[in-house]
Amino acid sequence: MFTMKVNENVSVKLLEKEDAKALFTLVDASRKYLREWLPWVDSVEREEDYVPIIETWLKQFSAHNGFQAGVLYKGNLAGMVGFHAIDWSNRKTTIGYWLAENYQGYGIMTVAVKALIDQAFNGYGLNRVEIHCGVGNEKSKAIPERIGMKREGIMRDAEYLYDHFHDCVLYSILSSEWE
Ligand SMILES: CC(C)(COP(=O)(O)OP(=O)(O)OC[C@H]1O[C@@H](n2cnc3c(N)ncnc32)[C@H](O)[C@@H]1OP(=O)(O)O)[C@@H](O)C(=O)NCCC(=O)NCCS
Repeated sequence: MFTMKVNENVSVKLLEKEDAKALFTLVDASRKYLREWLPWVDSVEREEDYVPIIETWLKQFSAHNGFQAGVLYKGNLAGMVGFHAIDWSNRKTTIGYWLAENYQGYGIMTVAVKALIDQAFNGYGLNRVEIHCGVGNEKSKAIPERIGMKREGIMRDAEYLYDHFHDCVLYSILSSEWE
């Protein structure tokens, strides 16, 4: 399975079922914090829950439909980054990400997202990459802003979070804008 070195400390790795324990441990320790912005946290209750999920992710990769990858910091699993799917007709995709609480503040996700944008444009030959962030999710919005993505506007009630809809900011970048 592939591992892509992003810089000296950060790499991105396709997860396998052997990674279920490390992934579950990471999520379980950051549950309350992750739950504020991610809709899937309650659906993962046990380590075993990740086995079929990881299989689905590997199928996505095999189907040439993007991938979901672990983000490693100094060799330890710190979070995940991935393409939701690829819209080949329109040559575009959307990137999603999360980090465990104690891995925030090192610039890990910014470089990981840059690596995925590079893969989208120079690997897959896509034309457009989107990132959707909750309007109040300042740390998440800082990533596309730091990268220089364009803020296109607000998508009203774009995501359901446990008991309420929330608005998201739509960011995008085109291949012609990527160096
Ligand atoms: C969104 C999330 C990944 C952002 O994490 P993050 O650590 O702020 O992002 P990065 O890894 O890119 O690090 C940037 C931070 O590191 C700092 N930093 C240190 N070295 C850096 C470097 N070389 N390059 C960039 N930033 C660096 C930045 O100043 C910034 O810290 P600040 O917010 O205090 O200014 C994280 O908060 C998270 O997972 N939240 C919960 C889930 C979530 O919201 N997911 C997104 C849903 S849309």
